[in-house]
Amino acid sequence: MKTAFVGKGGSGKTTLSSLFIRHLAAAGSPVIAVDADINQHLGAALGLTDDQAAALPAMGAQLPLIKDYLRGSNPRIASAETMIKTTPPGEGSRLLRVREDNPVYEACARPLELDGDAVRLMVTGPFTESDLGVSCYHSKVGAVELCLNHLIDGRDEFVVVDMTAGSDSFASGMFTRFDMTFLVAEPTRKGISVYRQYKEYARDFGVDLAVVGNKVLGQDDVDFLRAEVGDDLLVTVGHSDWVRAMEKGRPPRFELLEPSVREALAVMSGVADSSYEKRDWERYTRQMVHFHLKNATGWGNARTGADLTSQVDPDFVLREDALTGASGSAQGDPAQGSTRGPAQGPEQRSAQRSAQLA
Ligand SMILES: Nc1ncnc2c1ncn2[C@@H]1O[C@H](COP(=O)(O)OP(=O)(O)OP(=O)(O)O)[C@@H](O)[C@H]1O
Ligand SMILES: [Mg+2]
Repeated sequence: MKTAFVGKGGSGKTTLSSLFIRHLAAAGSPVIAVDADINQHLGAALGLTDDQAAALPAMGAQLPLIKDYLRGSNPRIASAETMIKTTPPGEGSRLLRVREDNPVYEACARPLELDGDAVRLMVTGPFTESDLGVSCYHSKVGAVELCLNHLIDGRDEFVVVDMTAGSDSFASGMFTRFDMTFLVAEPTRKGISVYRQYKEYARDFGVDLAVVGNKVLGQDDVDFLRAEVGDDLLVTVGHSDWVRAMEKGRPPRFELLEPSVREALAVMSGVADSSYEKRDWERYTRQMVHFHLKNATGWGNARTGADLTSQVDPDFVLREDALTGASGSAQGDPAQGSTRGPAQGPEQRSAQRSAQLA
């Protein structure tokens, strides 16, 4: 499952992402944690020292490697240079799985131990002014979007992204890449305004949005949020002494987290889990194509000097079956994840593709 945490600056995105990640890890789920926020604090919230966090490899610096790996032998993508953040996978592309080792994770992910449970952490790297542009070729968030568009994740596997709700994610389609989006809102007018903006963008794309009220101090706060967001309010979290202790650099064991916060996390993982039933890979693929065409004609073609609309493979649908159906034969195969070997005829190709992707 792919989940995102968005919200106003300071609302508690990083805090709640990190608690959610700890909760999932404690339940034994494989987790990839991704810091795609302007303020890169997820590593610290997961217990890294400043030095350890600063030493994490930045996905933004690995774009050529990520692109080269993901395009695999896809004949529609001539080079990494012509691959932009929205370039969709097609026949020949390599796909990522949550539970595997691959060159992308090797370059960009680091294992992190949380009370004995291991998760993988990936970070975009610090943002600069130019990273916030709508049509940025070297977009750091684009590295995350590329990975999400090439990822086939199963029910009990989680990708949790701490994310900014900026124009970049709306222009590129990043905001449509999640099974569940948690919008963290403090009970204030500013907290609600980000919700309204997100809801507006999300409306036409079937984005599942749930509001998590944070720093909620009493019934009046709950009533305010309920009045402003209605049934989108999923759950509220009050002040947490556990979080405060962590902020002081003395994180208690996770099992000591306040029961009320723990319950909120259980509700959140419950809705994330139930979002699985609503998965629609065809719509997911259609949306990535929609945003790719928009980005290609909007700036990508001019920027690369190529017609990037021809990168779309009309027959391709990203699907999960490769994890189960074909994983036996694909496991251990160095070409695993690639949807096409180098010297195959059309029948072999289509048979392989239907096994891995259909
Ligand atoms: N429920 C809570 N109880 C106690 N402190 C909290 C809680 N939620 C957030 N905080 C504190 O509020 C501050 C802001 O939280 P956090 O960094 O998670 O917000 P953010 O939305 O990620 O901010 P930014 O936009 O800067 O990335 C932090 O100091 C955090 O410890
Ligand atoms: Mg943050």
